[in-house]
Amino acid sequence: MKIACLGGGPAGLYSAISIKLRDAAHDVTVFERNRPDDTFGWGVVFSNETFDNITANDPVSAQAIREHFAYWDDIAVHYRGQRIVSTGHGFSGIARKTLLLLLQERARELGANLRFQTEIPSAGALARDYDLVIAADGLNSRTRSEFADAFRPAIETRKNKFVWLGTRQKFDDAFTFIFEGTEHGWVWAHAYQFDAETATFIVECSEATWRKFGFATMTQDESCRTCERIFAKYLGGHRLLSNAAHLRGSAWLNFPRVLCETWSHENVVLMGDAAATAHFSVGSGTKLAMESAISMADYLASEPTLQAAFAKYEDARRTEVLRLQSAARNSLEWFEDVERYLHLDPVQFNYSLLTRSQRISHENLRLRDRNWLEGAEAWFQRLAGADDNTIRRPMFAPFRLRDMRLKNRIVVSPMAQYKAVDGCPTDWHLVHYGERAKGGAALVCTEMTCVSPEGRITPGCTGMYAPEHEQAWKRIVDFVHAETDAKICCQLGHSGAKGSTQLGWEEMDAPLKSGNWPVMAPSPVAWSERSQRARAMTRADMDRVREEFVAAATMAARAGFDMLEIHCAHGYLLSSFITPLTNWRSDEYGGSLENRMRYPLEIFQAVRAVWPAEKPVSVRISANDWVGADGIEPQDAVGISRMLQEAGVDICDVSAGQTSIKARPVYGRMFQTPFSDRIRNETGMATMAVGNIYEPDHVNSILMAGRADLVCLARPHLANPYWTLHAAAKLGDRGEVWPPPYYAGRDQLYRLAGSAEPAPGAV
Ligand SMILES: Cc1cc2nc3c(=O)[nH]c(=O)nc-3n(C[C@H](O)[C@H](O)[C@H](O)COP(=O)(O)OP(=O)(O)OC[C@H]3O[C@@H](n4cnc5c(N)ncnc54)[C@H](O)[C@@H]3O)c2cc1C
Ligand SMILES: Cc1cc2nc3c(=O)[nH]c(=O)nc-3n(C[C@H](O)[C@H](O)[C@H](O)COP(=O)(O)O)c2cc1C
Repeated sequence: MKIACLGGGPAGLYSAISIKLRDAAHDVTVFERNRPDDTFGWGVVFSNETFDNITANDPVSAQAIREHFAYWDDIAVHYRGQRIVSTGHGFSGIARKTLLLLLQERARELGANLRFQTEIPSAGALARDYDLVIAADGLNSRTRSEFADAFRPAIETRKNKFVWLGTRQKFDDAFTFIFEGTEHGWVWAHAYQFDAETATFIVECSEATWRKFGFATMTQDESCRTCERIFAKYLGGHRLLSNAAHLRGSAWLNFPRVLCETWSHENVVLMGDAAATAHFSVGSGTKLAMESAISMADYLASEPTLQAAFAKYEDARRTEVLRLQSAARNSLEWFEDVERYLHLDPVQFNYSLLTRSQRISHENLRLRDRNWLEGAEAWFQRLAGADDNTIRRPMFAPFRLRDMRLKNRIVVSPMAQYKAVDGCPTDWHLVHYGERAKGGAALVCTEMTCVSPEGRITPGCTGMYAPEHEQAWKRIVDFVHAETDAKICCQLGHSGAKGSTQLGWEEMDAPLKSGNWPVMAPSPVAWSERSQRARAMTRADMDRVREEFVAAATMAARAGFDMLEIHCAHGYLLSSFITPLTNWRSDEYGGSLENRMRYPLEIFQAVRAVWPAEKPVSVRISANDWVGADGIEPQDAVGISRMLQEAGVDICDVSAGQTSIKARPVYGRMFQTPFSDRIRNETGMATMAVGNIYEPDHVNSILMAGRADLVCLARPHLANPYWTLHAAAKLGDRGEVWPPPYYAGRDQLYRLAGSAEPAPGAV
């Protein structure tokens, strides 16, 4: 087969090598517009794991590359006058120029033709002369544009500015991040050694800072001198060097995130940066390019036709590439939002940086650097007020809200049981909440408990509007207090337009088959086409509902609850005031966010006035309507929580969605945690994170990185009331208290969990 590799970067050269290795009979030519030793950029990094695939594919080039590697294991972070070092990260670096020269040599040795200083104007023209064109023409791929209709690329230009520089200053003991506060804002560098003399030094900052410095109008030389002044403390008098003569102006770039719907068209296939890019902060662009080259060569050898090979190549690589791109996206977003984290203590800041891509979990960090992580865990516990020298996982740290002291950070999230009779909790509720209180979570939250019969979601919802409700709840609260050391929170709510619907396991959110009651809401909305239209609330209705909340809070206080949560999420009454999707009022309760928040805040103030001063109040919100700009978006949620915080709400329970049938949520592990992170770190308010958090590792990384103060788990607690005790046993932590009658079960679990050796510092 006659094959053209368009582009002599890692993707093009490694394709030539991999194809020739599998079948030397192929006639392979690499076309490169530059000279063999032209170099733009400095070094590239590989992680240790990356290199196994490359070694298996071609031990010869792998060995040659390895001989030129600069290795380091540590990551050092300079931040607020401290240098924090963690180890076990296993990276290597090589000069891009050396890498390319070695790949050129190997490709030549295997019989590929290398044609330098040959600019290819059109891949289409090349495709007429060759059986296969591998378009590895990089980030600004002309081929991708030429066949844009086929590849359907999406290119997203990211916010930050960066410039790729080099220096003779040594950074040979660690991959180094430097964060410098300047008169124009924060500027940071990613620095790593790649050969004996030279280190890459990428400088990055926000667009606003970049403008204030005037980088836009500087020459490359002026830009280097300015960066030298910013990082003078770290450069030991060495200069910063640019080799981007091919770029116009000051050589600062915005990272373009490239995705293509398909990677092949007729006999042309996209490869490397031309097909997909991964942000430089995860150091995987070259890995992606080389691994894709291996995959394409494999299928070219194994499949009967080109089309079959393309199909298999895309199938095999797309998931892997998307996975890396998603980690890279997390990482680049962390750097875009870094100013949000710059108030954090250096320990927490470092943890947040190390786990930014969410590829490195809490326990994975322990494998890399046990000492560092244990130091960080001890810091977390000290801050939480635990005994000195305790080293336990963050999920087992105490937490205090007003006078309520929680033994750990796990919360049983509110979950409707639909088992009440006329609003009255039954023995089901006693057993259900009792079990979960025994199961180790520090705080058990009740289901949405409704302030009036018409404020119920379904006929099976619990209420707090009759003396027998208060008595039944008191029985549950008394059990929890007498038999466990858990605290119990009452979630109060009103269903609004989402009321009068079927039980959760029937047709959720659908009207009752018979016996519907009228519903009301801020505006005359219907939840769905099948739902009844709500009556718009009058001021008299609003006064009445406020008094119902006050009466319910008074009963909850008498029943002995430790905490109250006001349900302002998920499209129920108070939530439907907050979101513009369902609040079309023209009075002072509609329009601006301030106006839409007025009634929920009125309810909070009224409830707070009757709720014991020593006990906390939480508010649950939907931080994203998942409908784009028409609804609440995460930045609005920051505004909402600021208002809650100013009003005196103790903690914000950050949920999302369920406010519109038009919502298109993006699900995934911990998918709502970024909203909690943003609120906590932009407002300083305490938060609870919730939503698809199911592993102890998730919980620990959320807490340790400062993304939330408490973590709510809902469905995991339906499946296992003892989630926390099981998690502790599995992790080898013996500090959690079991109910004495269950000691024999505990001991067996400890033995089975193989946790003969308790976690360090654990009781
Ligand atoms: C600041 C920065 C830091 C980075 N750091 C790392 C890192 O640490 N680790 C890592 O793995 N990756 C890193 N990367 C990414 C890495 O450089 C790329 O992902 C990788 O080079 C992709 O290889 P490629 O072969 O697809 O593209 P390229 O390396 O861009 O190669 C494309 C080649 O095609 C040639 N070409 C283009 N058009 C034509 C034409 N019409 N005719 C002839 N020739 C043509 C170009 O001259 C070029 O040589 C970094 C990128 C940046 C911007
Ligand atoms: C059966 C069930 C009932 C729920 N009822 C409530 C509720 O009454 N109040 C509330 O705020 N959230 C309710 N939720 C939402 C949960 O509290 C939680 O936010 C959601 O399930 C996501 O968490 P998870 O992924 O841990 O399940 C309910 C969830 C489930 C599964």
